[in-house]
Amino acid sequence: MNAARRPLIVGNWKMHKTVAETRAFIAELLAANLPEEIDLVVAPPFTALGAAHEALAESTVALGAQTMHEGAQGPFTGEISPVMLLELGVTYVILGHSERRLLFGESDAWVNSRVRSAIAHGITPIVAVGETSKERQAGQTDRRVIAQTVAALDGLDATDAARVVMAYEPIWAIGTGANCDPVEANRVMGEIRKSVGGLNDVPILYGGSMKPENVASYAQQPDINGGLVGGASLDPVGFAALIEAAARHA
Ligand code: 13P
Repeated sequence: MNAARRPLIVGNWKMHKTVAETRAFIAELLAANLPEEIDLVVAPPFTALGAAHEALAESTVALGAQTMHEGAQGPFTGEISPVMLLELGVTYVILGHSERRLLFGESDAWVNSRVRSAIAHGITPIVAVGETSKERQAGQTDRRVIAQTVAALDGLDATDAARVVMAYEPIWAIGTGANCDPVEANRVMGEIRKSVGGLNDVPILYGGSMKPENVASYAQQPDINGGLVGGASLDPVGFAALIEAAARHA
């Protein structure tokens, strides 16, 4: 990882953990000796954000949401606004995750308006981009991730672009155990960094089957500044081990 960019590890719990499980997880995570040189975020489901906020109050671990609507309020059944997230102490929001894009029809235009809204509300967007295995096999990886990055950050000046966190999550690596080769991930992340003005100093995270056993190989790469971790963020002991391994090699 590049020392100029502080490493960041984000646990994306997806649709896992009740309020009670969230409280138990956080108590156990905070009991571990977490390294100070890494910024940490946990992103529980909406229903557990309030409990997580309370449980994290005395810690430096930040709270993230897994998506949001762009509007402050309105007739949008089932949606959650940035104002509601701020009230619960949320300071990061994952936007454009491939599961949102593929399973729930989130378009580039939506991702863009949510990124703008997050920045306007003072919430740091973690913008996820990544290619399918079909796109990779067809040699379209760079084109795909650059197009997603350009679309997500459309209309942002360099100052606002510098406020985002980017995440490269090759879709074929998510939840499969088939993590992307770290050198190749670093290369793609370099392309992401060059694609829009203002990204030079932002953290770019790798996501896709990141584990305590492989995090060091990513942490050693210059353009990889941390991880967006799914499955391996669900067990507090394992997640603490991943964070510790990342800190040792940052
Ligand atoms: P896994 O770590 O389970 O592969 O998930 C990655 C991811 O999608 C994080 O957002």
